[in-house]
This record gives sequence, C-alpha cells and structure tokens, in this order.
Amino acid sequence: MSSSGDLLNTKTTHVALFPSAGMGHLIPFLRFAALLLRRSDCRVTLITINPTVSLAESRHTSQFLSAFPQVIHLQLELLPVDPATVNSDDPFWLRFEAIRRSAHLLGPLLSSTSPPLSALVHDVSLVSPVIPIAQSLSLPSYVLFPASARMLSFVSYYPAFASGFESSNSGPFEGGLVRIPSISPIPKSSIPTLLLDPKSLFAQILMEDSPNLSRLNGILVNSFEGLESDSLKAINAGKVSKALPPLFTVGPFPPFEFEKVEWSTPTTWLDQQPDGSVVYVCFGSRTALSRDQTREVGEGLVKSGYRFMWILKNMIVDREDYDDLKDVVGSELMEKMKGRGLVIKQWVDQGEILGHRAVGGFLSHCGWNSIVEAALLGVKILAWPLHGDQGINAEVVRDSGLGIWVESWGLGCGGIKSNEIGERVREFMGNESLRRRAAEIGDMATQATVVGGSQEKTLGRLIQEWDKRKMAKE
Ligand SMILES: *[C@@H]1O[C@H](CO)[C@@H](O)[C@H](O)[C@H]1NC(C)=O
Ligand SMILES: *[C@@H]1O[C@H](CO)[C@@H](O)[C@H](O)[C@H]1NC(C)=O
Repeated sequence: MSSSGDLLNTKTTHVALFPSAGMGHLIPFLRFAALLLRRSDCRVTLITINPTVSLAESRHTSQFLSAFPQVIHLQLELLPVDPATVNSDDPFWLRFEAIRRSAHLLGPLLSSTSPPLSALVHDVSLVSPVIPIAQSLSLPSYVLFPASARMLSFVSYYPAFASGFESSNSGPFEGGLVRIPSISPIPKSSIPTLLLDPKSLFAQILMEDSPNLSRLNGILVNSFEGLESDSLKAINAGKVSKALPPLFTVGPFPPFEFEKVEWSTPTTWLDQQPDGSVVYVCFGSRTALSRDQTREVGEGLVKSGYRFMWILKNMIVDREDYDDLKDVVGSELMEKMKGRGLVIKQWVDQGEILGHRAVGGFLSHCGWNSIVEAALLGVKILAWPLHGDQGINAEVVRDSGLGIWVESWGLGCGGIKSNEIGERVREFMGNESLRRRAAEIGDMATQATVVGGSQEKTLGRLIQEWDKRKMAKE
C-alpha cells in the first residue's frame, strides 16, 4: 500500500522544458511553463544551458525562477566547440550547434528527476539529437515551435523544397513561389535567406531534423484560430505533410508578471500622450539595423508627424551593446526627436507598452512573440521583417488583417529612405479599418485564453495524454 504522499507523487504531471539559445526561443518556453504552473496538477523542470548568449536570457531566467521557486532548475554545461567546425559565425547559430553537440549530456541530467517525468518539451532546433535520449528514458517528446504555424509548414516541407535545388533548372520555385500542399503559396522573397543556401547550417539542421518531426509525439504552437485559421486547419487535417505529428494549439501566450523589468518601463511618458497617438517601434532582441538605416528610421519617424517610443538596438549580442545613444543616432537627430519621441536602449516590458492606451500601432520586425503579444492586445502592426522566419510571419500579419506589410521593403535589405518610412507610418497610423480589424483579432485572442477557451482545452488534452502514458508505464 502506498502512502498518500506517494499517491500524490505518481499523480503529478511533471514536464521538463528545454529551450535553446536566444530570447525568441526562451520567452515562449517560460510563458508556457507559467501556464502549466497556473494549474495545481503540474510540476515543471527547466533545463537551461550554461553559458547563455545574451545577458537578457540569464536575467529573464532568474526572474522566472524567483517568481516560481517550486520549479526544478537543471543546467546543462555546454562542451566547448571549435568554431572552425561550424558553418556559421552568428553567435546564436553557433550556440544552437553547440547545444546539439552537447545534447547527450541531457540523459544523465534527467535520469534522476523526481517525481518521475511525464514528458519532455524541447526546442525545434534539437529534434534529431534529443529524440534518442527521450526514447532511452521512455519519455514522450514534444517540440514547442517558436514561430507561426505557417513557418512550421515550411519547416516540415524543407527537404522536398531543397531537393529542388538539385533536380531542376528552375530550382525549387514555381513561378517564384513555393507550393506546399494546402498552404497559400510562399514567394521566394519571404523565405529565410539562409534556407536558400542548402549548405548553410540552418538548412543542414532542417535536412536532418524535418524528416524526424514524425518521430515526435506532438508539436505545440503559440498561435490561435483567429490569427492563422487556414494553416492550423490544414495541418490538423493532415494535408500539409505526413511528417508532422499531432499539433497542439496552446497559444496565444500572454506576457507574465515575472517578465516585468526592475528598472521599470517608462510608462510615465506614455501616460502624458493622447489615446492611440504613439507608434511603438521595436526590431527585436536579436537584430541590429545598420547605423545608416537606424538614422533613416529616426528621420522617418520624425517626418511621420506621430509620436513614437523606439526601442533601439545597435549590436547583435547585448553583452556588447554599450554604444552611447547619441553616437548611434547622431546629436542632430536626437535634437529633432526631442518632445516627439522617446528612444530607449534597454530591454523593456513590451506587454506593458503594447497594452498602454496611448499606443496606437507597432512598427515591428515580426518576431513571432511580438506578433502574438500585439494580437492579444489588439494592436495593429506595420511589418518590417528583417531575417529568418520573419518574412513568413509578416505574411500571417498581412493575411489575418492584423497589419500591413510594405513588401517592397524586402526582407532586411536596408536602404529604405526616411521619406518613404514617414509616409508609410503616417498612412498606417491613420488607418481606421486596420485598427478595427486588430481589435477584432484581440477579442478572438482573449476568447482563446479565457476559462474554458481553446487554450485551456488544449492544455487539458495534453496533460491527459501525458498522464495516460505515465499510467501505462507504471
Ligand atoms: C533523424 O535522427 C537520427 C537520430 O535521432 C539521425 O541519426 C538521423 O540522421 C536523423 N535524420 C534523418 C533524415 O533520419
Ligand atoms: C487600410 O489598410 C487596409 C489593409 O491593408 C487597406 O486595404 C486599406 O486601403 C487601408 N486604408 C486606407 C485609408 O489607407
């Protein structure tokens, strides 16, 4: 006979979460963890890598851990990697590869967790290395995908796409388009640049991992019907790819209390601005615009005539982000911006800014977390995707009606002049039908997250699946 304590142990659902490098990958994992921890029946183990690439990542992780002291924290110490053996010089891609090469250390790390684990949810960049480990521990394994369901369709289709580079003269495109079954065609200009080169590290990882997606027990996406109903329906109906395992639509993830930054976001300035009058501008945590393009953006914002709050970044990795604001923007432009805009060079609480009544629009690089946050708060987006999955995400923004994408600006090409930027920002901010559509999407997002909404139902389904497996094992 077991004591009541033991009973409690075996009944608890215990999930291990393993994100990869970069805020774009860390944030959805921590938000998903916070959703699980809201329930009384879930325990969470968080696996982080040591060292992290950016300071923002380690800060964010410690904020999460102090808000949820019940979380078990395990650190995977990365083995050193000779950069000469990796086909990339981007710090985040180098780190992805380093984690893949250290993934075998996960087995010993997880084998002694208590209570016993019910499932492992890991990053999409770790599919092939992690599956054998999960299998050896008899753990079902799931990917939490950090981008749109539309991007997931492309990821699953990638090997078929890449084979087109070898087989035909026209390459993998038909009339400049990628045609994935049951998905609206994706133009070449939206495809991540790295994936146009089958020898790039990103392409090689997908060649190895995409066929292995079918070996997962499921894929979790931070999305919802109101944002991507076509892609979600097509994937759920099994029409996109046989390689895809069951999909769990667990979004939209809201920002949480633990993410609030200590020095606090300067909402005092926003408090003084009229309703809907401010453009919030942020190109994300990972990408820096060139200095020239940065100044054109600043001039363009001034020319738009709208007030703005601009989160400025000028280095790829924030540990080195020490340049003085005046050096980046130039003192002449700083002078012009006075009184109209606020320029900030720090990680901010984006949810708080987007939710502020003074913010009327968001000029965004279209990182998926940003899009979902704006959708939840019903804030319209002017899309300016810069690289990676952002072009495909921008298509979701455009197709859902959440925002506008000036496609002639291209994917991170730069060289966009201030007059053009100012004009587009002015049109965008003044577009009333766009505002209404974004508010509708916000309502649908809220519907998904309320008690009894699609998010709670899907989470319930997942946990039931995990518990069933665990009982079968015992
Ligand atoms: C799938 O994963 C296994 C290891 O889990 C790996 O050996 C194999 O190369 C991967 N890719 C393909 C296409 O099977
Ligand atoms: C507002 O945006 C929508 C969606 O892009 C567009 O169709 C419409 O023409 C715009 N309206 C104005 C007044 O610019």
